[in-house]
Amino acid sequence: MTAPVPRLEIRNIVRSYEGRRVVDDVSLSILPGHVICLLGPSGCGKSTTLRMIAGVEMQDAGTIHVDGQLVCDTVFRVPPERRSIGLMFQDFALFPHLSVAENVAFGLRGPKPEQRARVAALLERVGLSHHIDAYPHELSGGEQQRVALARALAPRPRIMLMDEPFSGLDNRLRDGIRDETLAVLKEEGTSVLLVTHEPEEAMRMADEIALMRDGRIVQRGAPYNIYNAPADKAAVAFFSDINVLTGTVRGALTETPFGQFLAPGLPDGARVDIVFRPQHVGIDFDRAGRGPNPTALQGTPARAVVERARFMGSESLVEFRLDHDGQVLKATVPNVFLPKTGTPMWLSVRRDRCFVFPSGG
Ligand SMILES: Nc1ncnc2c1ncn2[C@@H]1O[C@H](COP(=O)(O)OP(=O)(O)OP(=O)(O)O)[C@@H](O)[C@H]1O
Ligand SMILES: [Mg+2]
Repeated sequence: MTAPVPRLEIRNIVRSYEGRRVVDDVSLSILPGHVICLLGPSGCGKSTTLRMIAGVEMQDAGTIHVDGQLVCDTVFRVPPERRSIGLMFQDFALFPHLSVAENVAFGLRGPKPEQRARVAALLERVGLSHHIDAYPHELSGGEQQRVALARALAPRPRIMLMDEPFSGLDNRLRDGIRDETLAVLKEEGTSVLLVTHEPEEAMRMADEIALMRDGRIVQRGAPYNIYNAPADKAAVAFFSDINVLTGTVRGALTETPFGQFLAPGLPDGARVDIVFRPQHVGIDFDRAGRGPNPTALQGTPARAVVERARFMGSESLVEFRLDHDGQVLKATVPNVFLPKTGTPMWLSVRRDRCFVFPSGG
């Protein structure tokens, strides 16, 4: 079997402003019907990448293909309206003087009865049939968002580019609209490139996440893999709070208050960071100055005292000060766990949830 042709493929895209590469050799492909999230901090080049794919801005180098056909290189350029690409942005700006039906029909061509049928079907799908003749100012934010989705989908684009489309909605509304939007996009078989700087949104929506930083894709993979096999310390930190222990390599091992960690492939004297998430810190009570026995999974426990404990709703966050060197580590515990400041306890770290990276860089 031959590999399927990607719906969208961008290769080695570069864009500079005033001599600074804000998009620096980015390559990405999306299979038909797949959702890819471009996830990264503010200013890393996400929107610029989307604008080049949409065709409203031109790259300095690199190519863009849709269904195997060249859409744009640095010489040839298919205009934006002929790329079969739908757009949805944060300020999705419905036309205020057009009704809901007219907004959705805006990009449609061809016989009127077919247009009407497509508009009716989409409004039915997003649950707005009863608002077909309303005007945008008569709708709630969430309803306007659904009209914008229907409008973007009406011409059956092969690709949807979405730039933080949910960030204008309040939190509780957002989860529902995200799931609903995803369901509609999957039904339509549209390939989606969704830009966000929120890891939860990416995890919720994406078949695959492309992690972007300083104009480059630093890692790409299924949400589970990005979360559990992060490329570097910043990739761990992007998804959650982190704890970091530092150490020096001796014979491919490094000593920590939690025992030895493997540091394969790193030379003696190299500094390493051992990175782990607060939810992977185990907590045991102190029994007359003794903690639990070391295990292969949990390593050696280290004694610490409670610095501060806070209730966060679905979990409690407890900060501990290690006896060993006074370093503060964070642990999260489901539900309510609020030990008094100064209580001695024993911490351990899930070995299979620790990541060892060279320091710095
Ligand atoms: N037209 C422009 N002229 C000069 N610099 C620009 C221009 N457009 C974007 N930039 C710069 O390029 C960098 C990337 O911008 P971009 O809008 O792609 O970031 P982003 O990842 O979408 O960020 P955010 O999450 O805040 O939307 C930023 O430093 C920005 O200031
Ligand atoms: Mg942006």
